[in-house]
Amino acid sequence: MNTGKRYFIFAHLFLFIVSCSNGSVNQISETRDQEFDYGQDIEEIISKMSIEEKVGQMTQINLDVISKGEVFNLTVPHELDLKRLDSAINHYFVGSILNVGGHTYSRAHWEEIITTIQNKAVTEGNHVPIIYGIDAIHGVNYTNDATLFPQQIGQAATWNPKLVKRAASITAYECRASGIPWNFSPVLDIARQPLWSRFFETYGEDVFLAKAMTRACISGYQGTDPSNANKVAACMKHFLGYSMPLSGKDRTPAWIPERQLREYFLPTFETAIENNALTVMINSGEMNGIPVHANHAILTTLLRGELNFKGLAVTDWEDIIKLYKEHKVATDMRDAVKLAVLAGIDMSMTPNDYSFNHALIDLVKKNEIPERRLDQSCRRILWVKKQLGILKNPIPAFENYALFGSDEHKEAATNAATESITLLKNKNNVLPLSAGANVLVCGPAANSLNVQNGAWTHTWQGVDEQYNTKGANTIYEAIAKESDGKIRYELGAGLNSLKDISATIEKALKADVIVVCLGEIPSTEKPGDIEDLNLHEAQKELVKSLSDLGKPIILALVFNRPLIVREVEDQADAILHCYLPGDYGGDALAQILFGKINPSGKLPFTYPRHAGSLVPYDHKHTEKLDKNFGYEAFHPQWEFGFGMSYSKFEYTDIKLNKTVFKEGDTLLVSMKVLNRSNRDGKEVVQVYISDQVASITPSVKRLRGFDKVEIAAQETAAVEIAIPIAELSFVNEKNKWFVEPGEFVLSVESIKLRFQVQ
Ligand code: BGC
Repeated sequence: MNTGKRYFIFAHLFLFIVSCSNGSVNQISETRDQEFDYGQDIEEIISKMSIEEKVGQMTQINLDVISKGEVFNLTVPHELDLKRLDSAINHYFVGSILNVGGHTYSRAHWEEIITTIQNKAVTEGNHVPIIYGIDAIHGVNYTNDATLFPQQIGQAATWNPKLVKRAASITAYECRASGIPWNFSPVLDIARQPLWSRFFETYGEDVFLAKAMTRACISGYQGTDPSNANKVAACMKHFLGYSMPLSGKDRTPAWIPERQLREYFLPTFETAIENNALTVMINSGEMNGIPVHANHAILTTLLRGELNFKGLAVTDWEDIIKLYKEHKVATDMRDAVKLAVLAGIDMSMTPNDYSFNHALIDLVKKNEIPERRLDQSCRRILWVKKQLGILKNPIPAFENYALFGSDEHKEAATNAATESITLLKNKNNVLPLSAGANVLVCGPAANSLNVQNGAWTHTWQGVDEQYNTKGANTIYEAIAKESDGKIRYELGAGLNSLKDISATIEKALKADVIVVCLGEIPSTEKPGDIEDLNLHEAQKELVKSLSDLGKPIILALVFNRPLIVREVEDQADAILHCYLPGDYGGDALAQILFGKINPSGKLPFTYPRHAGSLVPYDHKHTEKLDKNFGYEAFHPQWEFGFGMSYSKFEYTDIKLNKTVFKEGDTLLVSMKVLNRSNRDGKEVVQVYISDQVASITPSVKRLRGFDKVEIAAQETAAVEIAIPIAELSFVNEKNKWFVEPGEFVLSVESIKLRFQVQ
């Protein structure tokens, strides 16, 4: 760092200290990024900005605000309102715009929107390009004909970081092809509350697996140079503690002690920051009684001081307003803005009015927030714009994206879906089906691209059928294409209502096998809250009536979260979990059903058996203690990491490089895996380690390594997995990561090996 810059910072800090007497001083001085050189070019832009312009830079408005019609009720077809755009650029100097007005647009329409906005922003206002952001969370789900991948939970079920990176890289490309350089993805919240409506948006319950997927995703989105015209800025969501609402309902209080926070909920964010993630979005909810948007300890001391994050922190939707309207920690908007800005937010996803601007300008003019605080946020925002190359090239060369929605991209989405689908039961090897089998396909997920994709697909909740991708196959359509037999379809039951099933029974009687596709209404956030984790009665009833016919039943589960299927499990011969597999999930499932693809997905979460027993795989020993004092109470429907194949894999020759390790060592576990079948297959080798005795009660086991390997029929693969001993650390009684010497047991499949750490 040059001395001029250092002087600049200290001078500012000093001015800040003398201008504040209310304790907010220490809050600012904790930010390590004040020592970071964001660049002279950025300092120059800031030096020319008025207070109004700086506040504008920190403002993110919804597209609705500059569109014709009313917010949430825009004129159709969508049109920019040039007067409103003029006010946004020339009066409010907004720095960012987000989202779509209600539904997906064509790429040509995106080109018009982005070009109009950026041309105006660079020639008028303060001449700073806008950063446009969107939720392209499983592909660019707000651009027509974009490639839609499985939702994040399905991507985690592949246990294949290469596929996740490829999905992110294609998404980045198609996002830029729509003129948008900022993606509000990935969700890095760890899913340990199956009721939560956003369970499907996560990488599941395990920290190790989620960290591997985080690395893959960030590198797919950003690459090594995010200014590349095919890359976007990632946005780590939702910092911090969002996924664990005690009630299971979205945006309700979480109570997470520091040890648990550090051990389970922070590591994915740390990993993303280590991998240069450029932006972060804040948790809308409250944690331990404090709304995170008002929590200085989380947003500044932890995020800036400890994690040394240099990028921009954006609020979630209307979350400053919510500080006074819902959380009741502020008396009015002015109070709310003061809390959030002093806590550490950089950009307000306001997004439907300019109340943030009015309040913040007033607070700065009356010296209740120092202007230097605005400068720091502007530095971070402008730096992200610079990293993305949009300060120089705000409008992409739209004609350069020939691969948008191409067959090559669709193939990658199909591969991700095929590797995600998880075979949970296959009684008497009922699967794969013969090509000529006569199949009845039924159930509410059988013929619906909406159920298959879930929320964040063409619209926020994903339920409107008119925007569905043309040419993508539902499960029924894909099975009909894949098969040589007679394929019949009947709905059988709605998602929440039983239909007259006489027609379904009639068709079932003519079939050799019945595929029942169970589903859930596409939904997310508040609209996705549920009262009950049990599968709806209507769908249970459908399975029961069909099972009375005595024909083989195959269940395909297409759920937002693990709904309880205990009562229908024994009526099924085979069960496949499809998660929300996206537009090509029907094709993927059909290929697995007919044996063209050997299933290789594994559960990235513990599938509960009972709605009241929501215990993760890495629970404590006391959680498996039953009422008769035996140690067998942990009894999920299916365990974390479980998933079958059409092949049988045998593990032999498992060895450790040594049996006594020191803290800096790396444990190497090697083995042979034989594919004892006549089909090529993929196996996920999973290594778990149990700390035998520890000063903080140890988990029964933790995933510490994995590798997905392809093994040809009757071939053996030699696999070696490296586990740095530091991976065995836990958060100790001082809330610090710590490797504690002692005895450990490593397990692969049912084989166990002991070792020691000294
Ligand atoms: C969600 C975020 C999303 C944002 C913008 C919010 O309601 O919680 O995940 O990125 O809206 O659409």
